[in-house]
Amino acid sequence: MCGIVGYIGKKEAKPILINGLFRLEYRGYDSAGIATIENNGLKVVKNKGRVNDLNNTKGIDSLKGTIGIGHTRWATHGKPSSTNSHPHMDNSENFAVVHNGIIENYADLKEFLKSHKYKFLSETDTEVIPNLIHFYFESSKKTGNMRFLDAIANTCKMLKGSYALEILSSMYPDNMIVVRKDSPLVIGKGVEENYISSDIPAILSFTKDFYLLNDNEFAFISRDSIDFYDSELNKIDKECQNITWNAGAAEKDGYADFMLKEINEQPKSIRETIGSRISKNSKTLLPDIDLDKKYLNSINKIFIVACGTAMHAGYATKPIFEGLCEIPVEVDAASEFRYRNPLINEKTLCIFVTQSGETADTIAALKLAKSKGAKTIAISNVIGSSITREADYTVYTHAGPEIAVASTKAYTSQIVLLAIVAIYFAEILEKNLEKCSELKNDILLLPTKLEEVLKNTDKIKEFAKKIYKEKDVFFIGRGIDYSVAQEGSLKLKEISYIHSEAYPSGELKHGAIALIENGVTVVSVLTNRMLVEKSVSNLLEVVTRGAKTFIVTNQELNHDFDEVITIPKTSTLISPVLSVVPLQILAYYISKEKGLDVDKPRNLAKSVTVE
Ligand code: F6R
Repeated sequence: MCGIVGYIGKKEAKPILINGLFRLEYRGYDSAGIATIENNGLKVVKNKGRVNDLNNTKGIDSLKGTIGIGHTRWATHGKPSSTNSHPHMDNSENFAVVHNGIIENYADLKEFLKSHKYKFLSETDTEVIPNLIHFYFESSKKTGNMRFLDAIANTCKMLKGSYALEILSSMYPDNMIVVRKDSPLVIGKGVEENYISSDIPAILSFTKDFYLLNDNEFAFISRDSIDFYDSELNKIDKECQNITWNAGAAEKDGYADFMLKEINEQPKSIRETIGSRISKNSKTLLPDIDLDKKYLNSINKIFIVACGTAMHAGYATKPIFEGLCEIPVEVDAASEFRYRNPLINEKTLCIFVTQSGETADTIAALKLAKSKGAKTIAISNVIGSSITREADYTVYTHAGPEIAVASTKAYTSQIVLLAIVAIYFAEILEKNLEKCSELKNDILLLPTKLEEVLKNTDKIKEFAKKIYKEKDVFFIGRGIDYSVAQEGSLKLKEISYIHSEAYPSGELKHGAIALIENGVTVVSVLTNRMLVEKSVSNLLEVVTRGAKTFIVTNQELNHDFDEVITIPKTSTLISPVLSVVPLQILAYYISKEKGLDVDKPRNLAKSVTVE
């Protein structure tokens, strides 16, 4: 949801900014732009379209400055256009700003500034920011560097909403100020140079030492120093963190797309998620969650709250928590949870699942749960992400950077980690210990079984060629298989733009079956031995009406279907980790057949930092 990057050092800033923007493009790709400080002041080059288009935009070659900021946009206020692209400048052209987030009260601020004779060129919410900075700079009583900081701090006090900001001024050619609130921003420390970015992987090839800003903190950055301030401009200390990720993890490694790479990485990412947390015949280790038997016995409900694919991981694991811990579980979309006054108190445990750790609705939902007295656990993939700084406890999936907008390896890692959390609780509660031990054994075998699933993709690719021109596809399943159907359907629509819906198999005949006619594709997941016959009956209902069928199963089926993908057997409870993979691959090849940009589907962004 917009990516920002910055550089201050001795090298030419432009190639570093462009490189960072390419890596942040997954966050939005409606337009891109950069600003640098040249000998004669601030210079902005921006354009509608992708970073590649920016690279060919008039004026880009003239940028030689060694300090600069860059932006790749996911449009919210104002259509994608060159004028609406960032960076935005104030009327005096002394301040340039890039912004990730949304200024909710921008209309009022615009009126205020207009009453002071400021003019606006764009339709964006962001353009009020450089003008407010100019306004407060002019009226500031401070001098030197503090005048620049003071103008920005006063501006931030006026802003409602979310923002990660990088600000340059022609009057401070050797400095940059950054600040964040509810939008991500990291600072990478180099030798006589510093980097800024929306995420760590984008600048990981330049440095492994990072400072993570908290909400309402400012950094005043020079080539060889960074000073941190709180919202009242008191100086604060910050610890530099060394990140152990390998820069290569954020590259395609010879794969055509990040999504294909990430699908194929699942055996490895699941091994990382398991780590040393579970092993045969010993107790589950999750030292990051310090909850005891007395507390776990006292809770009467667990909420799993998330968005999109992460929410589907919640649906997939609800039966594990209920089956092992014997505590009722409710799964909710964060955007609903936060506005429906959910019944929670100190006897509720709330688990928030988010790959990025930056999803605005999920963070707001966590804050709400905390305010009502619930204990909160964050399940995230991104070290130091915003949610991890709000939650009582954080456990990381360790799936490695996920770059493709459509989530794949994060989903399977979330399921495995949630399953491990459920086992951990059940062991503390001393409940269903035999089932826990069986499930642990099955989890430990998942990486090898995933390797097997990934070897058999030819039939899926062929089926994709047969159906890629279709307009509607239905996904069905019962119980846990229905949760996988939901994820398969989401994957297909987001990267292939084919309309699809997921239904519980038995529910189809209560309405949606009216849409099944000759040639419509029905995809079904079938992994529960107890429900095979019933699910096959549901499939025959659609076959009779002319549907083409694509089945993912680990069961013997006594009927012919158009395509059957057989996956290894495992406990039904953890089967989504295997059964989702053919659906990810099907969506991938359909998108490729249609010639679409798999990694960057239209209208989407990887990290949804606006509500
Ligand atoms: C779909 C997808 C999204 C995300 C959702 C939540 O492929 O990636 O549905 O799952 O936006 O994102 P996180 O997990 O970062 O909170």
